[in-house]
Amino acid sequence: MTTLALVAGTGALELFPVEQERAIETDWGRPSAALARVDLGRAQAWLLARHGRPHRIPPHRIDYRANMAALATAGARHVIAINAVGSIDPELRPGDLVLPDQLIDYTWGRRHTFSDSADEPLEHIEFAEPFAGPTRRALRAAAAAVGVDLYDGGCYGATQGPRLETAAEIRRLAADGCTLVGMTAMPEAALAREAGMDYASLCVVANPAAGVGADAISIEAIHRVLDEAMGRVRRLLAAVRPDLLSEH
Ligand code: HPA
Repeated sequence: MTTLALVAGTGALELFPVEQERAIETDWGRPSAALARVDLGRAQAWLLARHGRPHRIPPHRIDYRANMAALATAGARHVIAINAVGSIDPELRPGDLVLPDQLIDYTWGRRHTFSDSADEPLEHIEFAEPFAGPTRRALRAAAAAVGVDLYDGGCYGATQGPRLETAAEIRRLAADGCTLVGMTAMPEAALAREAGMDYASLCVVANPAAGVGADAISIEAIHRVLDEAMGRVRRLLAAVRPDLLSEH
């Protein structure tokens, strides 16, 4: 049984050849795309294209609930989420790979919980450490095994999008303690936990956040950086050892 899921974001759709597709309908709706069975190298995974295949669903319109429900239905217990981000900490450069250990949620109006009506069981998940489980540790071990640089730690600020932030918004996020900014890790990470799955966010720095770099953010430059980084992401994922996930 494949217990690992890969949620692929911008620039990560073609990481691995698809072996088999499985269309899933959930009680919460249809996920962004059919689940695609992929062979990472050491581990098998269900890959879900977060923005659809082809890429078309903006971050605030993604049905994160249907996506996480579909992965849980397929038997996933561990989720590696690939998230393109802007860097707020100037030490983090475009192309860097980062494993955040914290997050702050600035999104609004998204369907963010399965405990959403009096008919559903009310669940207050524990979420003090959103990314602290074996999936994160397996990613660190994989990076060390293949010598891929992986920055350990950071705080992901989840913004609503689809527009990029103002420089003042980024200064506020920095003052709050955020080192990275992206649009997709929430409510995805919390829903994964509600669905009983251990979630790790593998962030790919695409650009310095608004006001952090000297130049205006260019979408073409973001795509160039992400394309270059995906080779390292693939090498890292190919080294993920399924036996390190089994403790969850
Ligand atoms: N802000 C928010 N999300 C992002 C960014 C950014 O600068 N870059 C990539 N995803």
